[in-house]
Amino acid sequence: GMSVKKICCIGAGYVGGPTCSVIAYKCPELQVTVVDVNPQRIAQWNSDELPIFEPSLDEVVKSCRGRNLFFSTDVDQAILEAELIFISVNTPTKNYGLGKGRAADLKFVESCARRIAEIAKSSKIVVEKSTVPVKAAESITNILKANVKPGIKYQVLSNPEFLAEGTAIGDLLNPDRVLIGGEQTSEGQEAVSALGWVYQHWVPREKIITMNTWSSELSKLAANAFLAQRISSINAMSAICEVTGADVSEVAHAIGTDSRIGNKFLKASIGFGGSCFQKDVLNLVYLCECLNLPEVAAYWQKVVDINDYQRRRFSNQIIQRLFNTVTSKTIAILGFAFKKDTGDTRESSAIYICQHLLEEGAHINIYDPKVKKEQILKDLSSRPEIFDSPDRLNELVTICPDAYTAAADSHALVICTEWDEFANLDYKKIYSHMLKPAFVFDGRLILDHNSLLDLGFHVEVIGKRLTRDISRVVRTPAAGST
Ligand code: NAI
Repeated sequence: GMSVKKICCIGAGYVGGPTCSVIAYKCPELQVTVVDVNPQRIAQWNSDELPIFEPSLDEVVKSCRGRNLFFSTDVDQAILEAELIFISVNTPTKNYGLGKGRAADLKFVESCARRIAEIAKSSKIVVEKSTVPVKAAESITNILKANVKPGIKYQVLSNPEFLAEGTAIGDLLNPDRVLIGGEQTSEGQEAVSALGWVYQHWVPREKIITMNTWSSELSKLAANAFLAQRISSINAMSAICEVTGADVSEVAHAIGTDSRIGNKFLKASIGFGGSCFQKDVLNLVYLCECLNLPEVAAYWQKVVDINDYQRRRFSNQIIQRLFNTVTSKTIAILGFAFKKDTGDTRESSAIYICQHLLEEGAHINIYDPKVKKEQILKDLSSRPEIFDSPDRLNELVTICPDAYTAAADSHALVICTEWDEFANLDYKKIYSHMLKPAFVFDGRLILDHNSLLDLGFHVEVIGKRLTRDISRVVRTPAAGST
């Protein structure tokens, strides 16, 4: 049988790092080595300042690092020693060539497979942890088998990861389910059991679901497509609410009490972000096109289209409410991460909203409790055509140390991320330091809108009309002149 003593994980990112830290924490008799080609990342994993922020991650890493958890750049050594190898590298949307803008780029996964085939001197279980298109395991198997050395056997498993950033450690310690797909042969099933045994150290047996490889690969894309679809569905409703007087939170509550629908993931917002939803839905769309299923592709494409629409709609609302121009006005942006409790900004809606406002020549003051200044500036410069000179970005964008500094002397305050601290700010103080009329745009539905109205703010929220009387808004500053 295959007994697992050493595990290697290729890719020390948001998935590889936390996942393997929890495996090492729960399986003290296993040696877990996480490797990466990026030496800076590995150095950070070995330091006191981990490369990613995730609640409780520090504690888990500290409790087993140097004991049975190691971070290293020596990819080959870790491959040589391990019986089980996770491939947990990034699979971004292809930005070139065939399938550009939609297909998942599998070059990093493939290079891992080639490395394993070249280095291995004993049999391995290779586990596809990265999110991949259906049938990717077949490509990995083909690469491994085409380069196989005598006496070595490979089994490729699919074991997609369902953790969510911001709650990764909790999700890993107490998963809804663990999914393992493998070949329907005795060798395949033996490999499935070996990986299942690792998870059984802490996951109840009934939560470990096994199935064929292709179902497992598709299930990950399906799960993210359904989750993204719920967000786009409620966001589509929010647009109806804003023009009819219905309140999207009330609608969400009403439909959420239907047990078939359920109440989670029904909050209207400025759209989903993160490295996965858009990438995985587009991956599914491209897969459908390749499989000659254009109607299915078009169906899922709309989920991404509505998300783009929602972001654009929100930026337009800000511009319209600020008397149709934000040029040279100052707008405070609270939150830049794609959601609370993470420092990750990949595909964050805040990037798009800020870029829309910058296109209009607005000055923006940005505050986020966890995102570094360099990251924000890097994200905003992803569309260099917005800035007609290199200095323009620094001229228009100020990164602030707290929410109060960001709001001071601004025309509007925009909530882009639902950080808890934004609900508890002293809005009276903020109001007194803002230009009047002072606007709040709550893109995450986290503020107490009535008390903001009482303070004198003009309040705009997704999916609900609060200040319907535009004439009142316009007349206030000019009242003396009539
Ligand atoms: P990431 O970009 O944070 O980490 C990937 C790491 O792999 C990078 O540090 C990179 O240097 C390394 N790498 C790339 N090629 C390599 C190679 N040939 N050898 C060694 N290291 C290599 O990516 P993240 O977010 O961890 O995602 C990994 C996979 O997991 C993706 O397929 C993603 O779709 C999936 N996933 C991500 C989730 C998330 O919340 N971030 C959740 C569930 C799945």
